[in-house]
This record gives sequence, structure tokens and C-alpha cells, in this order.
Amino acid sequence: MSVPCALRSYSGKVAQRPYDPSPAFDARGKIPAAPYDPSPLPGTAPAYEAHLVLHPARYQRPDTTWPSHLESVSPLVSELSSRARAGGSLAGFGISVSEGDDDLPEAHPPWDAHRDKAMRDPPNQAAEDELFWLYAYGSSGTFVQWHTPLSLRTLPSGEAMRSQLVTLFENAQNTNEAHIYVCTHGMRDCRCGVVGSELIDALRAQWEQHAQRCASQGQKPLKRVRIMPISHVGGHKWAANALVYPHGDWYGNLRTTDAPYVQTTHISLLLRAALAPASSRHDIHDMRERLVVWPRWRGRLGMNALQQQAHRDAWGPSVVFPAHLAPRAREELQATETHDTVALRFRSHEGQWFEVEGRLGETLMSVAKRHNLPAIEATCGGELECATCHAYLCDANADQLAQGQQDTPPAGADAILGDDAWISDEEDDMLEYALRRKASSRLTCQVRVTPGMAAWMKRGGRIELPPH
Ligand code: FES
Repeated sequence: MSVPCALRSYSGKVAQRPYDPSPAFDARGKIPAAPYDPSPLPGTAPAYEAHLVLHPARYQRPDTTWPSHLESVSPLVSELSSRARAGGSLAGFGISVSEGDDDLPEAHPPWDAHRDKAMRDPPNQAAEDELFWLYAYGSSGTFVQWHTPLSLRTLPSGEAMRSQLVTLFENAQNTNEAHIYVCTHGMRDCRCGVVGSELIDALRAQWEQHAQRCASQGQKPLKRVRIMPISHVGGHKWAANALVYPHGDWYGNLRTTDAPYVQTTHISLLLRAALAPASSRHDIHDMRERLVVWPRWRGRLGMNALQQQAHRDAWGPSVVFPAHLAPRAREELQATETHDTVALRFRSHEGQWFEVEGRLGETLMSVAKRHNLPAIEATCGGELECATCHAYLCDANADQLAQGQQDTPPAGADAILGDDAWISDEEDDMLEYALRRKASSRLTCQVRVTPGMAAWMKRGGRIELPPH
């Protein structure tokens, strides 16, 4: 089986893999026309209240030196990311990293692009000499910069930072600057590394041409547009992803060959969107909404998925794009009237057993929902946006009736789960939000019923439901 570079082994056989760009190309070695995945775009931007982007201020940190999880190399990123988790002081904020200006000195040694996220330093033991400028983007087209570069030692604690940011957003002035961030995080997902890097080069070249054209006419561009790489923002399957700030608009499925969104003889629609006003008037003269690139629009900062979809319906063109009609990422195989079934055993946290029939090809989430099993809410309906379908797929202990071996994946996971033995980056990210994640944890909307599960069940295998 060929293994996409974004996947890791559930059974732990392959812990590290160098950045292999080949899965981003098609059989002819070319970047395929967008999209990699036909799932609908509107509503896929995360519902952030604000987005914080750290810009290295002491050393250059080129995107080629970014490991899959930047928390492993930067204690400050690690600290801010944990504050941004549910229940933390920055919950609802997105945290990302850019690479720092070219005129900064090179770091010696550079970040280790192959460092595993499990190797992160505890913040209070880290020899931390990192400094970052903090760019903060609010939900109403606002941009503020933290007054001094931040390090772990100067980072305000807890709620203080949140309330200072809220005050800064409230007093923010209009800026004559726009920022286009392109995800080029190749160690996180090769598709972003390949098509993101190509996109950023193309946009920079276009901006250069536009600035020269303005200069030759004795004019200045309407705004200064900076085009910068950004670390993982989610949605690799819609690579290349670009964020236009401070407008707050997220775009996906971008290709440099994709005229006129990116490539054009004059100025691409993406750059025009960046030059538009950053906040909306919502009237007939509203240049901001008119210049949104709707066919590639994922959503907007400050809106949840439903609001993004409603906003696109209200303001976008009345055209249905074929890609919007296709099924979601992990499609269930078509169930037939005479479907084959496998007897599956679920165990609740309280020790109650459920023997149910699973249809080959349907997800374990769907099996649990059909039989009204407890603790599987699946509020996002299998769209990988909620982690409320979390369960443990595990082998039995010596006492077959007791809780199983939740701290290890089931032996022979590849034979049991087939292709679904591989956890995608998207599932791995969403599992971080599952309560009590363990080595046997999976999101059941990402695991389909296979024939191999029958033998596993005979050996005492089970799907154990979490306490919630
Ligand atoms: S159902 Fe929401 S992540 Fe699985």
C-alpha cells in the first residue's frame, strides 16, 4: 500500500518519516488541478474569535525547518497553543507561526524539522531565547501588533493577555496594510508544502509586477500587501490554503494555474481581495464583499460554520459549484439491501456490553448511532469537527469482561482496520480535543467496519466507549 506522507501508523510502526512531496503529485508527476478533495468549502474555516500569528524576531525560521508540530521546537508556541485549547485562557484563538524577515540572522542550529511532537521541552525547563512579534487579527477586520517582541519570559499570564488583546482590538485603527498568508507547512502535509510553496512564489511575483506597474504610472498601490508563509492552519485536503488578513477571509483549493483566482495578466482576484477594504458596509457599494473570491472561499474569522455558509448564501454568487455537491472526506461505502454484517462488541465505561451488527463499509460512529449506544454524540455528523465520536479500539485484558488494554492500539491493527489503520493529520488534530485520549483512541467516524473485525472480536477485541 502506498502511504500518503500526512498519515502516521496507528500501531506505531512508522514513527517518523521525512517530508516526501510525491503524494502531492498525480501519476504524471504534476500538481493535480484543484481540489484534492471535493468536499464543500464554505463553512470549513475554524470558528476562531481571533488569530494570533507569531513572527520570529531574533532569527529566521524558514518554513523548510518547521517540524510537523512546532510545539516540539518552540516552548512559546507550545505555551500559547495549550492556552488556546478548550478551557484555556486563550480558548477560541488560533495560533500559528510565520517565518520571520529575510534580513534576520540565520538560526544556529535551525529548528529540527524531524523533531517529534512528543519531544517538546517542558516550558519551565527550556533554555528559551526565542523572540516573536505577535500579529493579532480580530473578527471585524482589525489588525494589531503587540508592542514588544514576546518571549516565554515576557509572556503575560492567563487572562491578562486575553484582556489586553481585547482592549487592543477595541482601539485598533484602520491599517493600510494587508497580509496574505499561505500555508506552506510541508512537514505537516506534503500538499501544503508543494502547492502552497508554488502559490506563494506566484503571488509574490504578481505583487512585484503590480507595484512596478503602479510606480511606472507615478502611483502607489492602494495598500501594502505582504505575502507570507504560515504554519498549519487546518484543511490540508483543500491545499493550497491562503488567508487574507485583516479581512479574515480563508480560501482553499488554490492553484497557480487557476486563472483568474491566482493567475492573470493583470492582478489576481486574490490580490484584489487583499486590496479591498477590510470591513464590510453591507450595502450596494460594499467593495469588500464584492471582491471576495467566492468560488474558493472557506469562511471568515469570527463566524462559525453555519454563519459562514449563511454568509456565502447571502453574499456569494447564486451559482452551485459541482465540487460542493460531492460527499465528505471519509465516505461510507454504499450500503446495499443485502449488506454483509459483522457482529461487533461495544462496552460502556460502566461495564455494560452491547452486541450489535455493523454493516461492512459503514463507520463505527454510524453503527453506534443506529443502535443508540451511549457516549457517541457525533454532533458534527462525521465531518471531523467535534471529537464527540471518540472511543477506544482495544484488545482484552486477562479478565475478558473487565476494561480492555486502552493504553495500546489493538495487536495487528493493520489486519483489523485495513486502510483505516492510518490516522490522518486531521483526525490526529481533532483527537487532541477528545477527553482522556489514549494510545487506542480513535474517532469512530473515521473507522469503517471491515471483515477483519470478525476475527478480532473473537479474540476479545472490543470498542470501549468513553465516560462522557
Ligand atoms: S463525528 Fe465529529 S469528529 Fe467524528
